[in-house]
Amino acid sequence: MDDLSTIRSEALGAVAAAADLGALDAVRVAALGKKGSVTGLMKTLGGLAPDARREFGARVNQLKSEIEAALEARKASLGASALADRLAAEKVDVSLPTRPDFANWGQGTLHPIGQVMDELAAIFGEMGFAWAEGPDIEDDWHNFTALNIPPDHPARQMQDTFYLPPRADGTPMVLRTHTSPVQARTMLDKAVQKMLADGGSLRVIVPGRTFRLDSDATHTPMFHQVEGLVIDRTTHMGHLKGCLVDFCRAFFEVDEFPIRFRPSYFPFTEPSAELDIGCSWKDGELRIGAGDSWLEILGCGMVHPRAIANCGLDPAVYQGFAFGMGIDRIAMLKYGIPDLRSFFDSDLRWLRHYGFSALEWPSLTQGLGR
Ligand code: DAH
Repeated sequence: MDDLSTIRSEALGAVAAAADLGALDAVRVAALGKKGSVTGLMKTLGGLAPDARREFGARVNQLKSEIEAALEARKASLGASALADRLAAEKVDVSLPTRPDFANWGQGTLHPIGQVMDELAAIFGEMGFAWAEGPDIEDDWHNFTALNIPPDHPARQMQDTFYLPPRADGTPMVLRTHTSPVQARTMLDKAVQKMLADGGSLRVIVPGRTFRLDSDATHTPMFHQVEGLVIDRTTHMGHLKGCLVDFCRAFFEVDEFPIRFRPSYFPFTEPSAELDIGCSWKDGELRIGAGDSWLEILGCGMVHPRAIANCGLDPAVYQGFAFGMGIDRIAMLKYGIPDLRSFFDSDLRWLRHYGFSALEWPSLTQGLGR
């Protein structure tokens, strides 16, 4: 019996004294392990008379539970303080001044996605487009319904959507699957509606992040698109064609290369098309320009009258075109980057190789003849 209280006070004392999780585990093994003190008591039970065994067995079991509970509690508190220690040790003081040897560190570079966004701003800016943005976390109505994709529409299955918990008021939320919801946000903007009513014309590009449940060499769950939208009273398919052909020539810096529009389907445009650019493959390497192959780079079309009406404008008065293009894809094509996933690896060697000088402003607009 004495044994029992000695083991009890030793074990509980050792639990309290354990300074880290390793020491605590040693205490557990010493008491409850195969050769542990409590396990040793269990082994003596067989030699006792039935009554004594029942009584002693109950006390040993209770001791075992008591030590287990103490181990658990100590483990939780040591774990919490280990985390606190680690947080304190790894703390970064962001207010420290830069290092005196900063000049020797070498310069950073612009990521190709940022570079291409600058190029888009330069080229479309020259054509009179403004830059617009919208939220990455979007409600279902702007992402789908406003764009003529009602809840039961099969086109919802075309995009592998990340669904989010609904907002407090029950509004279903998603990570936007395309930049197109910003078309709706822009048309719904009261200042834009007034500008249009006053006879102005709306031209915006919307570069930004988009999200789909998809991951392989040519798809990442987060990627980038740029949306384009033009709305006024007279813009027609010919304008769409001219605008996108001009863009392709300026962006890819090739004067003579084949571009073709192929009929397609999108719920928010009618008619709809996809644009392909000419290319060729030589020794496994892709070349943009005249050749015997085609690459699809964007979807486009005349904005569907129902999308215009959903966004508070009269489709009998207003019309225009829209397009949507993958930024990562055109960056890969232009700069010969073979694997999409490498964009998001943050590998310094890759960034130095494919990155751009921060002070170089794209001068791609000469070809636009303005
Ligand atoms: N939102 C489409 C997609 O992600 C791309 C697109 C197609 C955008 C046609 C447009 C458009 O504005 O007119 O697949």
